[in-house]
Amino acid sequence: MSINAKDIDFNNLGFNYMDLPYRFRAYYRDGQWQDEGLTDDPNIHISEGSTILHYGQGAFEGLKAYRTQSGEINLFRPDQNAIRMTHSCDRLLMPEYPVDKFVDAVKQTVAANKDFVPPYGTGATLYLRPYIVGVGGNIGVHPAQEYIFSIFAMPVGNYFKGGLTPTAFITSEYDRAAHKGTGANKVGGNYAASLFPGDYAHQNGYSDCIYLDPISHRKVEEVGSANFFGITKDNVFLTPKSPSILPSVTKYSLLYLAKEKLGLGTKEGDVFIDQFDEFTEAGACGTAAVISPIGSITHGDDKHVFYSETEVGPVTRKLYDTLTGIQFGELDAPEGWIQKVEA
Ligand SMILES: Cc1ncc(COP(=O)(O)O)c(C=O)c1O
Repeated sequence: MSINAKDIDFNNLGFNYMDLPYRFRAYYRDGQWQDEGLTDDPNIHISEGSTILHYGQGAFEGLKAYRTQSGEINLFRPDQNAIRMTHSCDRLLMPEYPVDKFVDAVKQTVAANKDFVPPYGTGATLYLRPYIVGVGGNIGVHPAQEYIFSIFAMPVGNYFKGGLTPTAFITSEYDRAAHKGTGANKVGGNYAASLFPGDYAHQNGYSDCIYLDPISHRKVEEVGSANFFGITKDNVFLTPKSPSILPSVTKYSLLYLAKEKLGLGTKEGDVFIDQFDEFTEAGACGTAAVISPIGSITHGDDKHVFYSETEVGPVTRKLYDTLTGIQFGELDAPEGWIQKVEA
């Protein structure tokens, strides 16, 4: 039985799965996509030989729908998620689901579950999880002949417990991805590889772990499943550049906003772990993380505190207000960033 919107406390949501009434589904058979459209079945029935089960041939996305003050529903740059999914598909030899059809399927999923888009003012949102997986009877290490594309949704609150309160992170000695591997794609294997180091961080009281570059282990790559940014003493928004980082839609949006709206310098470049002193503030950014201030990073015996362990810094707050203001329709968005859902 799917959940009833009346039973949800939209003010106290975590980041948890919920079985909502509808999800979108399409099947790839005989060389083409066939849309099944919306279905109320939360389960998928697949062959035991499916490539997703053995060889991880699957990719996913994550984006959100936002309720505005006037009750409309905004999507934030869904085309960027659609494009990133085509890159993931190319890397794993899966058929691309067309960008315009992806955006339309997101809109259908949100409209069908519109009662679950949290009210304006709660800060909560409807999280959408598109995915594509290789299915059918296979056993050799080859791409599947058949695929399922689906999108489900659930209302969510904060991803990191702190919200805009800074939290603590620890560097990991493990890698989530290699430079010529799949780190720049949103594919399951990267996340399977992150479970053990993430668990270690959580067990030791940290919000998540910081991944370092897989070659030298001297440069910051990712903050769990979010990108890193720091504000330098000379007011530059600096974020790591590496082939094993997921190109974050939020990060690229912040690079634009930092420059155009906040008048900061911007740079994608190296962030060395022994040069944290050059930052006045640091944060994690992503669809789920939104902007989460980094209070401290522990690396071996060293603990570096950024702006504060308890207070968000002024630039991080300004970036947060600007980004979320656009997402919730309070501020004008750059051309093409907001798409409305007719519901
Ligand atoms: C590993 C990783 N890095 C960064 C991000 C942030 O990307 P985005 O801003 O597109 O959500 C995510 C989440 O999607 C992620 O899984």
